[in-house]
Amino acid sequence: MWAGRHVVLGVSGGIACYKSCFLARRLTEAGARVDVVLTRAAAEFVRPLTFEALTGRPVACSLWEPGEALAHIRLAHEADLIVVAPATAHLIARAAQGLADDMLTAMLLARRAPLLIAPAMNDEMYARPETVANLERLRAAGVAQVGPEAGPLAEGPSERPGRMSEPETILAHAARLLRRGGPLEGRRVVVTAGPTREPLDPVRVITNRSSGRMGFELAAAAWERGGDVVLISGPTALVPPGGPTLRRVETTAEMEAAVRDELPSADLLIMAAAPADYRSVEVADRKRARGEGGLSLTLGPTADILVATRGLRKPGALVVGFALETGDAVARGRGKLERKGLDVIVVNDATEPGAGFEVPTNRVTILDRDGAEDMLPLMDKRAVAEAILDRVAARCV
Ligand code: CTP
Repeated sequence: MWAGRHVVLGVSGGIACYKSCFLARRLTEAGARVDVVLTRAAAEFVRPLTFEALTGRPVACSLWEPGEALAHIRLAHEADLIVVAPATAHLIARAAQGLADDMLTAMLLARRAPLLIAPAMNDEMYARPETVANLERLRAAGVAQVGPEAGPLAEGPSERPGRMSEPETILAHAARLLRRGGPLEGRRVVVTAGPTREPLDPVRVITNRSSGRMGFELAAAAWERGGDVVLISGPTALVPPGGPTLRRVETTAEMEAAVRDELPSADLLIMAAAPADYRSVEVADRKRARGEGGLSLTLGPTADILVATRGLRKPGALVVGFALETGDAVARGRGKLERKGLDVIVVNDATEPGAGFEVPTNRVTILDRDGAEDMLPLMDKRAVAEAILDRVAARCV
């Protein structure tokens, strides 16, 4: 989505500037054309050359450099999106007052594109009524804000917000701002992800190889498209995406309970999780020692969440399921679409290289209720998530 987009990244002078280098790099890697504008103080922290090397483009610092007299107007008018990260207390105050006394603030005042700011400052400066009022004024002017977050500040740990959001979080908010107006905007989306774990005793579990990646990418992509997203996840080692509300669960019964809670208000349910299909009929209350000899387990089926919660679906809600098969994937997938009352099912064959669990890529076929069958090439899971949401979004309008 970033390819061909023009982003102006404004950087004001706070220590969080070092993270702006990563942000400039991530935007550039994603395919955006990134023009960096530094305040004088920012250039004291990070030299313009660093951003020039990261973006492959000249960096603007001053209104008074010979060459292009109206660079601030050109950048303001060419940008598809403007991001200011970090936005210091001083930059926020100047922008809120409509001052235009340097390259960055003059460009901000002339902007036509949406503006996202990522405040970063000492926690007391952030809580000060003057700063609160300045931010309120910017919000009233349509400026979007990400962070700040609580956590370590340059001067030590803090429980109060002040620290700039991480580059990945800023990137996700920037994408959401740029993608405004799509069919998922304002829709409640519930995504399940990962495996579940069924206990045998206090330390041992039955689980499966699902990494959760497909569900996490779907939740992140749906949130970027403006969805109000709840991600219900079994145990995974993944870093959760910034925007969606995360609900962690352990067992299939807990996942079912969370789906029961969320489903009645959902416009879209995407069951990307691989819930454990079996659980031990008996769960020991102590760890059994190996010396006690062999162990036989009696397993019973868990609930099929999609089937068990079918009656809770809101009229008109769309439901997407997944099917990971080991042969005859399309026919088996179509059977599950019918049996589970789905609108769309995404099938893949675990025996194919690059598809299925524990890999960053997937090769899927998307089947829908009307009989359409769409075989996609091998793609990374984020691209698969976008392709699935394109199909779903077409059904939402
Ligand atoms: N699913 C579910 N509850 C379960 C297991 C699976 O809701 N206990 C959902 C999955 O999230 C997926 C779809 O059902 O969207 C298909 O999952 P799959 O494991 O292929 O289905 P099963 O019904 O377990 O099929 P099988 O007969 O192949 O075991």
